[in-house]
Amino acid sequence: MEIKVITNSKEETKELGFQLGQLAKPQMVYTLTGDLGAGKTTLTQGIAKGLDIARTVSSPTFTICKIYHGRLDLYHFDAYRLEGLHQDLGFEEMIQGDGLTVIEWPMYIQEIIGDEYLEIEIKLLDEDQREFTLKSNGTTYEQLLGELKI
Ligand SMILES: Nc1ncnc2c1ncn2[C@@H]1O[C@H](COP(=O)(O)OP(=O)(O)OP(=O)(O)O)[C@@H](O)[C@H]1O
Ligand SMILES: [Mg+2]
Repeated sequence: MEIKVITNSKEETKELGFQLGQLAKPQMVYTLTGDLGAGKTTLTQGIAKGLDIARTVSSPTFTICKIYHGRLDLYHFDAYRLEGLHQDLGFEEMIQGDGLTVIEWPMYIQEIIGDEYLEIEIKLLDEDQREFTLKSNGTTYEQLLGELKI
């Protein structure tokens, strides 16, 4: 299943993220692809709010993964700096934890992501406009998309 959503501001993107956070269940994986500045971290900030995480999610510059505690823990990966680095850094164990895993630049760690995940692609349409394509891989995520109120 595939759903397209257009947002016209970063607040609308956070609102979409909020819903995705509220609908998250233990061990789910969301992948985020899109150019620099597309809104991957902004969406993740909304997701964190939907998980009742009080801390602000920041874009990690030199950190590959940050953990935030909430209703469900959030494992926020930014794999950008892992390009070309094919090493087992122990991230697999983390993805298998009870929290929600959100991965920016998943192509660099694709081999440790299973077959089931929610694929989120962000396209820059205009300065403040973004198109989100949400694609389910697996029935759990199909159900999740069915519950989105958009
Ligand atoms: N509709 C929108 N949704 C999300 N962000 C928007 C929107 N319109 C404008 N913006 C702006 O675009 C930028 C998105 O930055 P963000 O850090 O979320 O991108 P990113 O995809 O994580 O980039 P990077 O690849 O560098 O990590 C922010 O400055 C935000 O204010
Ligand atoms: Mg980012």
